[in-house]
Amino acid sequence: MSDFWNQKYQRNDYFYGEQPNDFLRSQIFRLQPGARILVVGDGEGRNGVWLAKQGFNVTTVDFSSVACAKAEELAARAGVPLDVHCADLHVWDWSVNHFDAVVSVYLHFMPEDRVKLHSKMQKALIEGGWLIIELFHPLQLNYQSGGPKAPEMLLTIDELESDFHGLQWQLLMEGKALLTEGPGHAGPAHVTHGAARKPISPQS
Ligand SMILES: C[S@@+](CC[C@H](N)C(=O)[O-])C[C@H]1O[C@@H](n2cnc3c(N)ncnc32)[C@H](O)[C@@H]1O
Repeated sequence: MSDFWNQKYQRNDYFYGEQPNDFLRSQIFRLQPGARILVVGDGEGRNGVWLAKQGFNVTTVDFSSVACAKAEELAARAGVPLDVHCADLHVWDWSVNHFDAVVSVYLHFMPEDRVKLHSKMQKALIEGGWLIIELFHPLQLNYQSGGPKAPEMLLTIDELESDFHGLQWQLLMEGKALLTEGPGHAGPAHVTHGAARKPISPQS
């Protein structure tokens, strides 16, 4: 599967552009300066590098070696540190109770894998930590602006809420969007996104 992504990223430009995802950009007001952020499936690094430029302490994971090299190059060009892990999230050594935020942008899996990985994302958060996530909605099948073609890989807000049932959603929406994210995501789209907080237990 990483071969599929390596081929997509084997080009001179950045397939999803060099600018961050709009929803991510709109949500970082929730985070404290210097927050430790895990960006899963960060691809060529547009989101991780932008977060590092905002002064956050960023770890990114992607299993495409081509993407990781391009993420490192983007970070070097921006002059910011970026801790890039070129690894498969299914076997990566996930930290538990460690990150102030987990960011997942257009990272799609078949349901069984998705539920497992979403659980790992939730466990990786500290109490009070934030999940910021955007995915394609099943209605994205009506559009040509990117995303998987398998309907089981697309998500409604109900599925997202169910996967992260331990979190408190502060924002959870599905609807139309206009994507201008490089050649990879261009045009009208239908997305599901949200920001949710891990509750702080009463004794802490
Ligand atoms: C649609 S791209 C999105 C990239 C990036 N989040 C962005 O918005 O620019 C999905 C990314 O997830 C990565 N990915 C998919 N499955 C993965 C896995 N099991 N482990 C690590 N990365 C994975 C792919 O290599 C690809 O870069």
